Amino acid sequence: MSVPLLEVRDLRKSYQLTGRPALEVLHGIQFSLNPGECRPICGPSGAGKSTLLHILGGLESPDGGEIIWKGESMKGWNRTQGALWRRGAVGFIFQSYHLIPELTVEENVRLPAMLAGVQLGERWEDLLDEVGMTLRRDHLPGELSGGEQQRVAVARALILEPDLILADEPTGNLDVASATAVLDLLVRMVRERQKSLLLVTHDESVAAKVGNPLRLLDGRLAEKEK
Ligand SMILES: Nc1ncnc2c1ncn2[C@@H]1O[C@H](COP(=O)(O)OP(=O)(O)O)[C@@H](O)[C@H]1O
Ligand SMILES: [Mg+2]
Repeated sequence: MSVPLLEVRDLRKSYQLTGRPALEVLHGIQFSLNPGECRPICGPSGAGKSTLLHILGGLESPDGGEIIWKGESMKGWNRTQGALWRRGAVGFIFQSYHLIPELTVEENVRLPAMLAGVQLGERWEDLLDEVGMTLRRDHLPGELSGGEQQRVAVARALILEPDLILADEPTGNLDVASATAVLDLLVRMVRERQKSLLLVTHDESVAAKVGNPLRLLDGRLAEKEK
Protein backbone atom coordinates (compact mmCIF):
# COMPACT_ATOMS: atom_id res chain seq x y z
CA MET A 1 0.00 0.00 0.00
CA SER A 2 1.42 3.38 -0.98
CA VAL A 3 1.90 6.21 1.51
CA PRO A 4 -1.12 8.57 1.64
CA LEU A 5 -0.58 11.96 0.04
CA LEU A 6 -2.18 13.64 3.02
CA GLU A 7 -3.07 12.47 6.52
CA VAL A 8 -4.98 14.66 8.91
CA ARG A 9 -4.96 13.70 12.59
CA ASP A 10 -7.13 15.21 15.31
CA LEU A 11 -7.16 18.64 13.65
CA ARG A 12 -8.61 21.39 15.86
CA LYS A 13 -9.36 25.04 15.33
CA SER A 14 -11.10 27.73 17.32
CA TYR A 15 -11.48 31.46 16.76
CA GLN A 16 -10.86 33.87 19.65
CA LEU A 17 -13.55 36.52 19.69
CA THR A 18 -13.06 39.57 21.89
CA GLY A 19 -15.32 39.58 24.94
CA ARG A 20 -16.85 36.22 24.06
CA PRO A 21 -15.91 32.58 24.58
CA ALA A 22 -13.70 31.06 21.87
CA LEU A 23 -15.67 29.64 18.96
CA GLU A 24 -14.64 26.05 18.35
CA VAL A 25 -14.93 25.38 14.62
CA LEU A 26 -13.08 22.08 14.07
CA HIS A 27 -13.19 19.42 16.78
CA GLY A 28 -10.67 16.74 15.89
CA ILE A 29 -10.83 16.09 12.17
CA GLN A 30 -9.24 12.86 10.97
CA PHE A 31 -8.96 11.45 7.46
CA SER A 32 -6.46 10.57 4.79
CA LEU A 33 -6.26 11.11 1.06
CA ASN A 34 -4.35 8.89 -1.33
CA PRO A 35 -2.37 10.03 -4.37
CA GLY A 36 -4.83 10.44 -7.24
CA GLU A 37 -7.86 10.36 -4.95
CA CYS A 38 -10.69 12.90 -5.39
CA ARG A 39 -13.13 13.57 -2.55
CA PRO A 40 -15.82 16.15 -1.96
CA ILE A 41 -16.14 17.76 1.47
CA CYS A 42 -19.86 18.20 2.10
CA GLY A 43 -21.80 19.89 4.84
CA PRO A 44 -24.15 22.77 5.61
CA SER A 45 -23.10 26.41 5.78
CA GLY A 46 -21.04 27.12 8.90
CA ALA A 47 -19.91 23.49 9.31
CA GLY A 48 -16.24 24.47 9.03
CA LYS A 49 -15.57 23.42 5.43
CA SER A 50 -13.71 26.57 4.37
CA THR A 51 -11.75 26.65 7.63
CA LEU A 52 -10.62 23.06 7.05
CA LEU A 53 -9.61 23.77 3.46
CA HIS A 54 -7.73 26.94 4.42
CA ILE A 55 -5.76 25.03 7.05
CA LEU A 56 -4.95 22.24 4.58
CA GLY A 57 -3.77 24.85 2.08
CA GLY A 58 -1.58 26.62 4.63
CA LEU A 59 -3.72 29.78 4.55
CA GLU A 60 -4.58 29.41 8.25
CA SER A 61 -2.90 27.50 11.05
CA PRO A 62 -4.61 24.90 13.25
CA ASP A 63 -4.66 25.04 17.06
CA GLY A 64 -4.01 21.34 17.44
CA GLY A 65 -3.51 18.08 15.61
CA GLU A 66 -1.21 17.15 12.85
CA ILE A 67 -0.97 17.23 9.07
CA ILE A 68 1.24 14.61 7.45
CA TRP A 69 2.33 15.16 3.85
CA LYS A 70 3.66 12.09 1.99
CA GLY A 71 4.45 10.43 5.32
CA GLU A 72 6.23 13.46 6.81
CA SER A 73 4.71 15.49 9.64
CA MET A 74 4.54 19.18 8.79
CA LYS A 75 4.79 20.04 12.49
CA GLY A 76 8.55 20.51 12.46
CA TRP A 77 8.63 22.53 9.25
CA ASN A 78 10.05 26.04 9.34
CA ARG A 79 8.55 29.02 7.47
CA THR A 80 10.66 28.47 4.36
CA GLN A 81 9.66 24.81 4.09
CA GLY A 82 6.02 25.80 4.58
CA ALA A 83 6.21 28.55 1.95
CA LEU A 84 7.88 26.27 -0.61
CA TRP A 85 5.27 23.58 0.02
CA ARG A 86 2.38 26.04 -0.31
CA ARG A 87 3.75 27.35 -3.56
CA GLY A 88 4.51 24.06 -5.28
CA ALA A 89 2.41 21.31 -3.71
CA VAL A 90 -1.10 22.78 -3.60
CA GLY A 91 -3.30 24.64 -6.05
CA PHE A 92 -6.24 26.62 -4.66
CA ILE A 93 -9.51 27.45 -6.42
CA PHE A 94 -11.91 29.87 -4.71
CA GLN A 95 -15.66 30.39 -5.14
CA SER A 96 -15.11 34.00 -6.25
CA TYR A 97 -12.19 33.17 -8.60
CA HIS A 98 -9.69 35.60 -6.96
CA LEU A 99 -8.07 36.56 -10.26
CA ILE A 100 -5.96 39.72 -10.22
CA PRO A 101 -8.17 42.30 -11.98
CA GLU A 102 -5.27 44.33 -13.44
CA LEU A 103 -3.61 41.29 -15.04
CA THR A 104 -4.64 39.65 -18.30
CA VAL A 105 -5.80 36.04 -18.56
CA GLU A 106 -2.31 34.99 -19.65
CA GLU A 107 -0.62 36.90 -16.83
CA ASN A 108 -3.00 35.45 -14.24
CA VAL A 109 -2.27 31.89 -15.39
CA ARG A 110 1.50 32.49 -15.44
CA LEU A 111 1.61 34.34 -12.12
CA PRO A 112 2.36 31.35 -9.82
CA ALA A 113 5.31 30.42 -12.05
CA MET A 114 6.59 34.00 -12.09
CA LEU A 115 6.41 34.19 -8.30
CA ALA A 116 8.19 30.85 -8.00
CA GLY A 117 10.82 31.74 -10.61
CA VAL A 118 9.87 28.69 -12.70
CA GLN A 119 10.44 28.66 -16.48
CA LEU A 120 7.22 27.40 -18.09
CA GLY A 121 8.18 26.88 -21.73
CA GLU A 122 4.98 26.30 -23.69
CA ARG A 123 3.21 24.56 -20.85
CA TRP A 124 1.04 27.57 -20.01
CA GLU A 125 -0.15 27.82 -23.64
CA ASP A 126 -1.27 24.17 -23.64
CA LEU A 127 -3.07 24.71 -20.38
CA LEU A 128 -4.81 27.85 -21.62
CA ASP A 129 -5.89 25.88 -24.67
CA GLU A 130 -7.17 23.01 -22.52
CA VAL A 131 -9.45 25.35 -20.54
CA GLY A 132 -10.61 26.96 -23.80
CA MET A 133 -9.27 30.45 -23.08
CA THR A 134 -6.60 30.92 -25.76
CA LEU A 135 -8.62 33.46 -27.72
CA ARG A 136 -9.20 35.49 -24.53
CA ARG A 137 -5.57 35.50 -23.37
CA ASP A 138 -5.20 39.30 -23.60
CA HIS A 139 -8.48 40.04 -21.84
CA LEU A 140 -8.87 41.27 -18.27
CA PRO A 141 -10.93 39.24 -15.76
CA GLY A 142 -13.61 41.96 -15.72
CA GLU A 143 -14.25 41.27 -19.41
CA LEU A 144 -15.03 37.58 -18.78
CA SER A 145 -18.10 35.68 -17.58
CA GLY A 146 -17.97 33.89 -14.23
CA GLY A 147 -17.48 30.51 -15.92
CA GLU A 148 -14.62 31.86 -18.00
CA GLN A 149 -12.96 33.42 -14.96
CA GLN A 150 -13.18 30.12 -13.12
CA ARG A 151 -11.62 28.28 -16.09
CA VAL A 152 -8.70 30.71 -15.88
CA ALA A 153 -8.49 30.00 -12.14
CA VAL A 154 -8.41 26.24 -12.88
CA ALA A 155 -5.48 26.75 -15.26
CA ARG A 156 -3.69 28.92 -12.69
CA ALA A 157 -4.18 26.27 -9.98
CA LEU A 158 -2.68 23.57 -12.23
CA ILE A 159 0.18 25.53 -13.79
CA LEU A 160 2.87 24.31 -11.36
CA GLU A 161 1.46 20.76 -11.47
CA PRO A 162 0.73 20.52 -7.73
CA ASP A 163 -0.10 17.11 -6.25
CA LEU A 164 -3.15 18.45 -4.40
CA ILE A 165 -5.92 20.74 -5.66
CA LEU A 166 -8.14 22.40 -3.06
CA ALA A 167 -11.37 23.91 -4.38
CA ASP A 168 -13.82 25.81 -2.15
CA GLU A 169 -17.31 25.82 -3.71
CA PRO A 170 -15.71 26.41 -7.13
CA THR A 171 -19.05 26.40 -8.94
CA GLY A 172 -21.04 28.19 -6.21
CA ASN A 173 -21.28 31.50 -8.11
CA LEU A 174 -22.09 30.00 -11.52
CA ASP A 175 -25.32 29.29 -13.39
CA VAL A 176 -26.19 25.61 -13.86
CA ALA A 177 -24.71 25.22 -17.36
CA SER A 178 -21.41 26.98 -16.53
CA ALA A 179 -21.17 25.14 -13.20
CA THR A 180 -21.49 21.76 -14.93
CA ALA A 181 -18.91 22.69 -17.57
CA VAL A 182 -16.36 23.99 -15.02
CA LEU A 183 -16.82 21.04 -12.67
CA ASP A 184 -16.48 18.48 -15.48
CA LEU A 185 -13.37 20.25 -16.77
CA LEU A 186 -11.74 20.47 -13.34
CA VAL A 187 -12.43 16.83 -12.45
CA ARG A 188 -11.25 15.58 -15.86
CA MET A 189 -8.02 17.60 -15.72
CA VAL A 190 -7.24 16.47 -12.17
CA ARG A 191 -7.92 12.80 -13.03
CA GLU A 192 -5.89 12.90 -16.27
CA ARG A 193 -2.92 14.23 -14.34
CA GLN A 194 -3.48 11.68 -11.53
CA LYS A 195 -3.58 14.47 -8.97
CA SER A 196 -5.66 14.56 -5.77
CA LEU A 197 -8.64 16.83 -5.22
CA LEU A 198 -10.56 18.01 -2.17
CA LEU A 199 -13.61 19.96 -3.32
CA VAL A 200 -15.92 21.70 -0.87
CA THR A 201 -19.59 21.74 -1.80
CA HIS A 202 -23.00 21.75 -0.17
CA ASP A 203 -24.51 20.36 -3.39
CA GLU A 204 -24.97 16.56 -3.46
CA SER A 205 -25.07 16.43 -7.28
CA VAL A 206 -21.67 18.16 -7.40
CA ALA A 207 -20.32 15.80 -4.73
CA ALA A 208 -21.50 12.73 -6.65
CA LYS A 209 -19.31 13.71 -9.62
CA VAL A 210 -16.19 14.04 -7.47
CA GLY A 211 -16.09 10.91 -5.33
CA ASN A 212 -16.79 9.45 -1.91
CA PRO A 213 -17.77 12.37 0.35
CA LEU A 214 -16.26 13.47 3.63
CA ARG A 215 -19.25 14.81 5.56
CA LEU A 216 -18.63 17.67 7.95
CA LEU A 217 -21.25 18.64 10.50
CA ASP A 218 -20.61 21.20 13.26
CA GLY A 219 -16.86 20.79 12.90
CA ARG A 220 -16.89 16.99 13.06
CA LEU A 221 -16.72 14.33 10.36
CA ALA A 222 -19.98 12.40 10.36
CA GLU A 223 -18.37 8.99 9.89
CA LYS A 224 -15.09 8.42 11.65
CA GLU A 225 -12.38 7.87 9.04
CA LYS A 226 -9.52 5.61 9.91
N1 LIG B 1 -12.01 34.48 10.91
C1 LIG B 1 -13.04 34.04 11.63
N2 LIG B 1 -13.31 34.57 12.84
C2 LIG B 1 -14.35 34.12 13.58
N3 LIG B 1 -15.18 33.13 13.21
C3 LIG B 1 -14.97 32.58 12.01
C4 LIG B 1 -13.89 32.99 11.15
N4 LIG B 1 -13.93 32.23 10.03
C5 LIG B 1 -14.98 31.40 10.17
N5 LIG B 1 -15.61 31.60 11.35
C6 LIG B 1 -16.77 30.85 11.88
O1 LIG B 1 -16.43 29.47 11.82
C7 LIG B 1 -17.57 28.67 11.46
C8 LIG B 1 -17.22 27.84 10.24
O2 LIG B 1 -16.99 28.72 9.14
P1 LIG B 1 -16.58 28.17 7.69
O3 LIG B 1 -15.38 27.32 7.82
O4 LIG B 1 -16.50 29.36 6.81
O5 LIG B 1 -17.85 27.27 7.33
P2 LIG B 1 -18.39 26.75 5.92
O6 LIG B 1 -17.32 26.99 4.89
O7 LIG B 1 -18.68 25.29 6.14
O8 LIG B 1 -19.65 27.50 5.64
C9 LIG B 1 -18.71 29.66 11.23
O9 LIG B 1 -19.48 29.70 12.42
C10 LIG B 1 -18.00 30.97 11.00
O10 LIG B 1 -18.79 32.05 11.39
MG1 LIG C 1 -17.32 28.11 3.16
